[in-house]
Amino acid sequence: MIGSARLGNLQYCLETVLEDGVPRDFIETGVWRGGVCIFARAVFQADGYTGGQVWVADSFSGLPPPCAQAIHDVRNASGIVDPIVDIDGIGAFWRRGW
Ligand SMILES: C[S@@+](CC[C@H](N)C(=O)[O-])C[C@H]1O[C@@H](n2cnc3c(N)ncnc32)[C@H](O)[C@@H]1O
Repeated sequence: MIGSARLGNLQYCLETVLEDGVPRDFIETGVWRGGVCIFARAVFQADGYTGGQVWVADSFSGLPPPCAQAIHDVRNASGIVDPIVDIDGIGAFWRRGW
């Protein structure tokens, strides 16, 4: 799902950590089918590293629906104006030609 560019970046990050000798586990939070974690484990194994765990964290029930407060907070933080326009408002735009 993540595509070859992101996978390449992940490989670079993992190999950098291995080269630098940083003690490590790896966790992905929200894994979908777990391909990234399988890939991370393969990078560890290819390096001969056996000291770290690969953790797979997921609800395994998909994305939860957003709550109203979260939507409000994101809009406030981003400055995005609410894109929802009622049908009368759209009609008024069209009648006056914007
Ligand atoms: C779009 S996938 C992301 C997969 C992968 N990390 C990627 O970047 O391609 C989102 C995943 O997060 C999981 N997820 C969403 N909300 C979650 C939550 N509140 N707690 C745990 N997992 C969650 C979903 O089940 C899904 O597998």
